[in-house]
Amino acid sequence: MFDLMGRTILITGASSGIGEAMARLFAREGGRLLLCARRTDRLEELAAELRAAHECDIHVFHLDVGDRDQVSMAFRGLPDSWSSIDVLVNNAGLSRGMDPVQEGSLDDWDEMIRTNVSGLLYVTRQVLPGMVRRGRGDILNIVSTAGHEAYPGGAVYCATKHAVDAFTQGLRKDLVSTPLRVMAVSPGMTETEFSLVRFHGDREQADRVYNGMTPLAARDVAEAALFALTRPAHVQVGEIILWPTNQAGSTLVARDSSKPPHSSTLPPPHSVPPNESAWRGFYELNEEESGFPGSEPGTSPPIV
Ligand SMILES: NC(=O)c1ccc[n+]([C@@H]2O[C@H](COP(=O)([O-])OP(=O)(O)OC[C@H]3O[C@@H](n4cnc5c(N)ncnc54)[C@H](OP(=O)(O)O)[C@@H]3O)[C@@H](O)[C@H]2O)c1
Repeated sequence: MFDLMGRTILITGASSGIGEAMARLFAREGGRLLLCARRTDRLEELAAELRAAHECDIHVFHLDVGDRDQVSMAFRGLPDSWSSIDVLVNNAGLSRGMDPVQEGSLDDWDEMIRTNVSGLLYVTRQVLPGMVRRGRGDILNIVSTAGHEAYPGGAVYCATKHAVDAFTQGLRKDLVSTPLRVMAVSPGMTETEFSLVRFHGDREQADRVYNGMTPLAARDVAEAALFALTRPAHVQVGEIILWPTNQAGSTLVARDSSKPPHSSTLPPPHSVPPNESAWRGFYELNEEESGFPGSEPGTSPPIV
């Protein structure tokens, strides 16, 4: 079995959620970590903690993946000792809003497309030539179950994740004659800051997403990524799809109404102002009507 010892691993979006959980796990496994995101204060804190706990080598840098010039400058500016990247984990991503398309916000759409699709392409384009030249490298994309099945209110987010799925497949084909591996991990509902960001900081709305069910934890997804990255060189994990046990599709989640309402213990992210208009009683509608397309009584649509 391969391990991560001494491998230089770039994780985009390492300042929270799944990216942060991967940084924690990969540091424990001996990886050299290159961590980027926009909130560098968080990255610095995380790096200090991981250096103290595991004596690992970590370099952090500011990056808005959707800013093409910034991406090219950031990679040109990497110190020599960090420029040979062995593993790229394209994790940075977000969802914004739950409006139906006819009422959708163009700003929300632009932000999702810029981050989830363009950003992932820009970063991959910077890192890939070096991997091809050196004849080694793994690319692992964090896609989503939303990359396989769309859900109402999520058309544009799902479209971005379908795009990432298609790109992942195409890239694997482009690289078929090389030793490079292209992998994906696609989680269902995972409790991170994802819903808080989607609802522009509205904690109550974000908590309701996980009412009456147990979502995946960021750590669960990080463990799947670790599995994929540590297979022997001749094994290329195409995709790992992870569901919470009580989720069986983008619009099928069984919720136990006897459970107390979900209450997150996650700290509030900064720079995401509340937006009262975002959720629009989506859950209430389905509880009253109990007939959401594709759902069963007692279930309601998830958002991942
Ligand atoms: N949570 C879920 O249910 C779920 C399910 C399936 C797939 N996913 C996918 O998992 C990935 C990680 O999300 P998460 O759940 O861990 O959410 P999260 O806790 O909100 O983390 C998102 C990360 O992406 C970074 N990011 C966002 N926009 C960025 C940008 N323009 N440039 C650089 N970094 C950016 C954020 O850092 P900064 O804000 O500091 O830049 C943050 O570190 C995403 O691709 C998401 O689509 C999540």
